[in-house]
Amino acid sequence: MAETEMMDFLKREGVSDRILSEVSYFRTYYKLSPDMERRVPDPMYHYYGTDVWEKALSSLLVGEHLLLAGPKATGKNVLAQDLAAVFHRPEWDISLYINTDAASLIGADTFENGAVRLRKGPILRVAEEGGFGVLDEINMARNESLAVMHAVLDFRRVIDVPGYDRISLNEASRFIATMNYGYAGTRELNEALASRFLIIQMPVISEENLNKLIRDKFPTIREEYAAQFSQLFHDIRRKCEGGEISTKALDLRGLMASINLISHGLKAVDAIELGIVNKCFDEYERQLVKDMITVRFPADLTRDKIFTD
Ligand SMILES: Nc1ncnc2c1ncn2[C@@H]1O[C@H](COP(=O)(O)OP(=O)(O)OP(=O)(O)O)[C@@H](O)[C@H]1O
Ligand SMILES: [Mg+2]
Repeated sequence: MAETEMMDFLKREGVSDRILSEVSYFRTYYKLSPDMERRVPDPMYHYYGTDVWEKALSSLLVGEHLLLAGPKATGKNVLAQDLAAVFHRPEWDISLYINTDAASLIGADTFENGAVRLRKGPILRVAEEGGFGVLDEINMARNESLAVMHAVLDFRRVIDVPGYDRISLNEASRFIATMNYGYAGTRELNEALASRFLIIQMPVISEENLNKLIRDKFPTIREEYAAQFSQLFHDIRRKCEGGEISTKALDLRGLMASINLISHGLKAVDAIELGIVNKCFDEYERQLVKDMITVRFPADLTRDKIFTD
């Protein structure tokens, strides 16, 4: 089962026994109806970062909602999904965008066989089923559309469904919001909303954890090349922190996609160009990034040297 595998992983990563036993208690205390099992995620990826894990698990255990804030590809959605899996709760992914309105979140009347019926929105489903609601890119939505969330997220834990009832949040329900400031189209989260979450500032993955992540996703990669890729990522990171280049090339998604391309036969430098170098649209910056790659990866390097199979 996914949650047993996740618990073993968390133990290996050094998450405290006390926290893990509380999570186990939560799982046995809040039973899940059999028809909800299919909504419990079976995660593809493990989030690496013991510190963040302990913060997130502790917050949810005491009944708080979480906001994961941080730059692109820092594992916000991976962590949110992993959390629903460890707690063994059904998950609803709620992508927010500029046109999101209260009706799409809570529900709206529809006609069915000549009668009016409430088509339940994801927030209502999370409330009823003790689900985990992932409010993805929460700062894309207009603050006014999110006003309905205020009573849901504070001590009241209720939803007033217009024309229907007041529905209380199931005790096991939690919301995990994600946000990425600085992306085009994002806005400031208003303080009233931010105050209803505990907030984790998501760090960029450490070099050691990136090494683990690469070997986890590509089990046949040679150790020295897993190290080369994680060092390259941290070279780029240092240049970003020093203000020499923008953060465009600091893209873990792009790095993973490049390694995948190499495993399918593309030359290493070409694959890294597609996944990393070409994220920079400024010619000068692109050259700087290219130079960092030339140092570590010879022009003729291919999959046979990098992978054992
Ligand atoms: N700490 C981490 N542990 C495991 N995987 C990570 C970590 N940080 C980033 N990743 C990897 O980065 C990729 C992107 O993850 P994810 O989609 O969760 O990022 P995100 O923070 O939601 O990004 P965005 O803000 O762009 O939506 C995944 O392949 C994920 O495995
Ligand atoms: Mg995301």
